[in-house]
Amino acid sequence: MSAEAGGPFPEDFLWGVAIAANQAEGAWQQAGKGPSQADVMRFDPDLDLHSIATTESVADVVRALADGSGIYPKRDGIGFYETYRDDLELLGQLGINAFRTSIAWSRLYPRGDEAEPNADALKFYDDLFATVRQHGMRPVVTLTHYEMPLNLVTELGGWRNREVMDHFLRFAGTAISRWSPLVDVWMVFNQLNTGLLDPFLALGLLDVSDAEMPAVKMQALHHQFVANAAVVAMAHRANPSALAGSMVLDMTAYPATTRPADVLAQVQEEQVTLFPSDVLVRGAYPPAATRYLRDHGISLDIRDSDLELIAKHRVDYLAISYYVTRVVGEGPTSLDRTGWSINGDRPNLHLAASPWGWQIDPLGLRTALNKYADRYPGMPILIAENGLGFEDVLTPAGEVHDPYRIDYHREHIRAVGQAIDDGCTVMGYLAWSGIDVVSASSNQRSKRYGFIYVDLDDFGVGSGRRIRKDSFDWFQAVVTSRADALD
Ligand code: BG6
Repeated sequence: MSAEAGGPFPEDFLWGVAIAANQAEGAWQQAGKGPSQADVMRFDPDLDLHSIATTESVADVVRALADGSGIYPKRDGIGFYETYRDDLELLGQLGINAFRTSIAWSRLYPRGDEAEPNADALKFYDDLFATVRQHGMRPVVTLTHYEMPLNLVTELGGWRNREVMDHFLRFAGTAISRWSPLVDVWMVFNQLNTGLLDPFLALGLLDVSDAEMPAVKMQALHHQFVANAAVVAMAHRANPSALAGSMVLDMTAYPATTRPADVLAQVQEEQVTLFPSDVLVRGAYPPAATRYLRDHGISLDIRDSDLELIAKHRVDYLAISYYVTRVVGEGPTSLDRTGWSINGDRPNLHLAASPWGWQIDPLGLRTALNKYADRYPGMPILIAENGLGFEDVLTPAGEVHDPYRIDYHREHIRAVGQAIDDGCTVMGYLAWSGIDVVSASSNQRSKRYGFIYVDLDDFGVGSGRRIRKDSFDWFQAVVTSRADALD
């Protein structure tokens, strides 16, 4: 990539992969684990590939829990709860120095409101994080990734209820005090801004009418901002040199046309989708958010002590996931609508798309990184997820040829290098997902992102065997050469 070893990538750059407990572990009722949102997400064989599955009411949840015939792939994941030692050994062979996963909150606190954690879960994560270290990887640990105890959703109403914040802080306190000796990169929330788009998965909200939704989403997000600040403080108390941050979904948007009204709509959409990271990084609500509340007559329960905490304990780094860019035109922003389409209002005719309609835009990653560098000067950005979902084919010879995935990562890593040359501070690149896991949005196993193939289909049928794809060797060469072997 460059004449100098490592090119623009610093020596301490985090090269790694990322997964989430709810999409990998399975064992949903084993060793005392309680159900989470993920365990009621049903796989629909007639799925519209371009849609994003969600759940809207407590009745849906009750029905799913009682459903004996439907397929709920996240309940079994890829069996990582049993296979993590072998899987981590194989992942370690990639030569990566970082591995991101999450702690299943409902494994530690099955109902969420217990005073004491589940001892089996403590032992499981003791060994998991130690094993990650043994294979030369630094654990990057997400505290919550779409897997809160379902009881807190159905009984307390999710994050709209301040009490949920207290339960979360008890869980986070347990995790940080127990695993600080092994973990020094904490990620409090996965994709904090997706609460705007997917209120069930990200905020645990159900049975909220369209009219109420903007105010309820804002209140729930406020509780997450306060919780984030409190956890940043906890992590620093436990280890002053620990890095504590949170993650947002990058939602870089292009205006649908050069009509001034579309350009303004794009600016307003980005003000909305970036307002959560503004709060995390700058420690205060941006003008666009306070103006929104005022204009909509929304008054939230925001206490002075909350604002002080948010101001005082800002993130050490901002994590982003990057998959697509979006196109937006005049119309309601993501705060005013419920439900979402991944690419925004319309397709970008200049970009190709995956079979799921996710548009592929490596240059957009360079644009996004420059945007964060301008908006949050000096703030390190961790690319906590980037990858291509594809229906890979296992050949009769037992091989998986995935040149499309190699192309995808190559062009995105190249864009990261260019952004670093532009002056952006990038802390690391974690590929989603290293090993195939269940898809978050479609609940498919056939939407694969890994460098390692897991021989299980959408119905959970298969040997479960792990097979290195062609992209495995390619990524290993990239990582071990610090991207000199990109081409
Ligand atoms: C991110 C999530 O949105 O995208 C992951 O943090 C998810 O959980 C990833 O798996 C890819 O999305 P999907 O829906 O294709 O699995």
